[in-house]
Amino acid sequence: MIDEHTYRQRRAELARRVGHGLVLLPGHAESPINYRDNCYRFRQDSTLLYFSGLALPDIALLLDCDSGQATLLAPEPHPDDIVWTGPTASRAQHAASAGIDRHAPLADLQALLDQAQAQGRSVHRLPVARGHDGGSECSGISAALLRAVIDMRAVKSPDEVAQIEQALHTTRDMHLLALRSARVGVAEQALVGAMEGLVAARGLHMAYPVIFSRRGEILHNHRHDQTLKAGDLVVNDSGAESPLGYASDITRTIPASGRFTPLQVDLYRLVLTAQQEAIALLRPGVPYREVHEQACRVLVDGMIGLGFMRGNAAEAVARGAHAIVFPCGTGHLLGLDVHDMEGLGEAQVGYGEGQARSPLPGHRYLRLARPVQAGFVVTVEPGIYFNPWLAEQWQAQGLHADLIDYDALGRHMGFGGIRIEDDVLVTEQGARVLGPHIARSLDEVEAACEPV
Ligand code: GLY
Ligand code: MN
Repeated sequence: MIDEHTYRQRRAELARRVGHGLVLLPGHAESPINYRDNCYRFRQDSTLLYFSGLALPDIALLLDCDSGQATLLAPEPHPDDIVWTGPTASRAQHAASAGIDRHAPLADLQALLDQAQAQGRSVHRLPVARGHDGGSECSGISAALLRAVIDMRAVKSPDEVAQIEQALHTTRDMHLLALRSARVGVAEQALVGAMEGLVAARGLHMAYPVIFSRRGEILHNHRHDQTLKAGDLVVNDSGAESPLGYASDITRTIPASGRFTPLQVDLYRLVLTAQQEAIALLRPGVPYREVHEQACRVLVDGMIGLGFMRGNAAEAVARGAHAIVFPCGTGHLLGLDVHDMEGLGEAQVGYGEGQARSPLPGHRYLRLARPVQAGFVVTVEPGIYFNPWLAEQWQAQGLHADLIDYDALGRHMGFGGIRIEDDVLVTEQGARVLGPHIARSLDEVEAACEPV
């Protein structure tokens, strides 16, 4: 159970790892849509959630690493709030729910920071993901705090894994609904609305905006303005968030006609083989970069067999030629964020000391390269994408013309894309695919497409 004792333990561990000074963890503010009282759905900063569980706007947590004492800084409800929002918990009640002994008005924060500075104490801060520049960098970041938070959040406790699996139950239902309802003539938006409705009806939220498209070759296609046509493949990348904010992230690829065509069968099998081989490699100590490269080699090997590429798979992957059909990475960390902790800096989270990001296509978008550890939850999501704009660009430059049969690829532009994604826990012994089984094999997907 994730309760006040867990939050106390996490804060004590953070104080121990950082050593000295104050840690400041600011929460998110409300974000207005068009004026102050009409806001987007509130979502707390994930690190503050991890150390307090408090999903309230306009709060901050100050942790004294020398004494171990935590202070919740939050506004006290205004007496008039009763008219608009009804009775709400007091600052003291919120603090108690997170096991925080001290609390003070948010307005006191600056004075506390000034006092620390006057005493020569350091104040440790993280990059701010929602800074006004929209970036995830800011000056004065504490390397010690960043390392401690990344190392703690990366390894999931059984309670956190249970949250992800809880989210996956809803995600399974969402994907089965989409598989059952997708058919020729149905509008993408209708299916997106149905999935979002299922999640909302359970009082939950999506972990990220739905990707649901017959133009699946566009990796993060958030447009849902098309109608499904005979022979289409639809990429459905969607996941719900658990009650405590843990993400799930699943992709299935649906034949709109209910049956895969022969070429779709070949390419689907290939992506599934790449995914299963990648999952089979996962165990503590294995660099995720190797998992990615193995998935790429399996895909290229298959593409050579099908006449879309030629030459040697290992060489093609080393040169980045696979990016013509698989330009992104095989996966990322998953947790309180769908790309876990990406707001703290993708390089710090996904690449270890001395591990440089490759500048090559097919390698440079890899979000996670470092060795995985027991307790990491990662996604494994290889794919094949027939991107006509990319092929046109590469062909015009004559890029890897010895390895890529542009004519063969060109004959199938319009194919779309295939992605198969699951969420996997690295265990002491190897790895475990999380959540309930979601139709994945060709036969299972076709069976799930049958109207009930
Ligand atoms: N689910 C979207 C992504 O992994 O980028
Ligand atoms: Mn993903």
